[in-house]
Amino acid sequence: MTGLEDRCDAGARIVGHAGDLALDYFARRAELDVSAKANPQDLVSEADRAVELLIRDAIHDAVPCDGIIGEEHGCAAGDSDWNWIVDPIDGTSSFLHGLRGWSVSVALRHGTRTVAGWVADPSGGRLYRAVAGQGAWLGDSRLRVSEARLLEDGLTAVGSGHPDRMGALIAALLSRGGAFQRNGSAALSLAHVAAGHYLGFYEPRLSPWDCAAGLLLIEEAGGVSDPHPLDRPAPVLAGAPGVIAELRNLVATTELAEPVD
Ligand code: IPD
Ligand code: CA
Ligand code: CA
Ligand code: CA
Repeated sequence: MTGLEDRCDAGARIVGHAGDLALDYFARRAELDVSAKANPQDLVSEADRAVELLIRDAIHDAVPCDGIIGEEHGCAAGDSDWNWIVDPIDGTSSFLHGLRGWSVSVALRHGTRTVAGWVADPSGGRLYRAVAGQGAWLGDSRLRVSEARLLEDGLTAVGSGHPDRMGALIAALLSRGGAFQRNGSAALSLAHVAAGHYLGFYEPRLSPWDCAAGLLLIEEAGGVSDPHPLDRPAPVLAGAPGVIAELRNLVATTELAEPVD
């Protein structure tokens, strides 16, 4: 196996299997071993670790030379220019609380370009996928971002972050007639932007595995995003072309004097 097409076939198959395994764990989430990482809301369970191991083993079997960067098991350098960025369960908190706002997110990078991405929503039976230059898709349906021109014409998704800053952002959004939602999975939120369900998305700090696949979905669906380095945590701001300037302004006007690290 050498090229993008074979890797795309492998990626879709692997993410599908990962979603099935995650769903098995979701059905028995009350029995899982769970611990907190950085804070009491930042949870990890045996499901996160097991799903990532399945993905890593399957990538290694399919393309042994490729590198893998995963949230739970770290970085395994490869001998090729291809790297896979893996979030086995994005939205662990939703997952463990029995909500459907979680996903499996995998992106494929070639050099410094994201060339393919998959966001599976296993509890909704959906797999969002994109290939650079070839579009973003849900099944046979091509994804397109919203054509709205004002934030008051739809829903804006927000992530978590500094309480003052997010509070100010949400207040400003509401005061201009907009509305916010938070489904618990940044990757799934970005897929919903690509599908036109959300107008845009903002979170002040996301890791590469949270957003690499979702940002490609948005780009391939005709949306725009501010650049994310994809080698360290950074803000993610993305949306439909008609509202991105308004969303940028809103975020800028609610920024704190001190940068969020
Ligand atoms: C989290 C989710 C959440 C976002 C957090 C992420 P995780 O990822 O994407 O929506 O607000 O910043 O860390 O930990 O559930 O994989
Ligand atoms: Ca996590
Ligand atoms: Ca995540
Ligand atoms: Ca995760």
